[in-house]
Amino acid sequence: MLTLGIETSCDETACAVIKNSNTVLASCVSSSIHMHRKFGGIVPEIASRFHLEYITLVVEDALKKADLNLSDIDLIAATYAPGLVGSLLVGLSFAKAISLAINKPFLGVNHIHAHMFAPFIQEKKFQFPFIGLTVSGGHTSLALVKDFDNIKIIGNTRDDAAGEAYDKVAKLLELPYPGGPQIDKLASSISLSPFQLKCAKLENSFDFSFSGIKTDVLYTWNKLKIKNKKAKTQIAHAFQKQVVEILVTKSIAACKKHNINCLSVGGGVACNSFLRKQLQAAGKQANIQVLFPNIHLCLDNAAMIGVLGYHLFKKGKRSKYSLSASAST
Ligand code: KG4
Ligand code: ZN
Repeated sequence: MLTLGIETSCDETACAVIKNSNTVLASCVSSSIHMHRKFGGIVPEIASRFHLEYITLVVEDALKKADLNLSDIDLIAATYAPGLVGSLLVGLSFAKAISLAINKPFLGVNHIHAHMFAPFIQEKKFQFPFIGLTVSGGHTSLALVKDFDNIKIIGNTRDDAAGEAYDKVAKLLELPYPGGPQIDKLASSISLSPFQLKCAKLENSFDFSFSGIKTDVLYTWNKLKIKNKKAKTQIAHAFQKQVVEILVTKSIAACKKHNINCLSVGGGVACNSFLRKQLQAAGKQANIQVLFPNIHLCLDNAAMIGVLGYHLFKKGKRSKYSLSASAST
């Protein structure tokens, strides 16, 4: 069975072709990030116009790489939520149109759910139950996952997403957008920082809050007399240490509370070198298997949409053409 996955929830126009459960025949991504950089964040109107311009090319490219024609496809799966509505609508409408044109079923897929399954694509097998940590530019959540269609969110961010906090802190420190990779690089270049920043712990809850530490960075930075690269590096280090500590502590606690020995991590912040190192170490100590996707599967992609779409389809799920795009989950 061949599934065409389409993803356009934010700034990546992506299409993938999946054979059966999880063989990725092609995964193509075209990003508009270079167009948003000068604005210091995503401009929704620019993102949706880019999707319109590139969606046909990206789908054609994926089919070409997989050496297939559109008529070979058995299922079309597209992200319908959450994300920027204008962007989502482009991929969703395109998927519905293909489905009608080739008379094959169409299925809407939740972007956050798809991130949680990304590590299993390369593992080549799925295992349940697991705890899914999603850390992206728009979302931060912990979920108890018992099956492809049995996902219960047990923790959410109450304000900024982890990636959003990275991006905003980077902006404060006058680093280019997106800030996550920049802070990661600076923070990893030293092993100690004289700065002590605080991140809300929200004890006895699996919720997160990253707006406080962002404000802490703002005050710390503004108070400095000498704002040089050394200070930026030290603040970046102190910020990353706190954020990663919270993510690691809550994820391991969620596994322990639900007596689960598998943790999957997805979303752009899953690229973070310190998070990968610390979570692997904590998992080893607690006897919990921690699964991270390859870098290209952490960031937004359509392979994860196609794979989850296939499994939901096998479980009997179908979407109507009336399915609309939604900004929230
Ligand atoms: O999952 P994603 O591609 O898009 C959303 O669905 O939001 O995640 C993008 C986010 C951005 O906020 C970016 O700064 C962050 O992932 N990011 C990182 C790293 N690489 C990307 N954050 C921390 N460390 C990184 N190495
Ligand atoms: Zn994402």
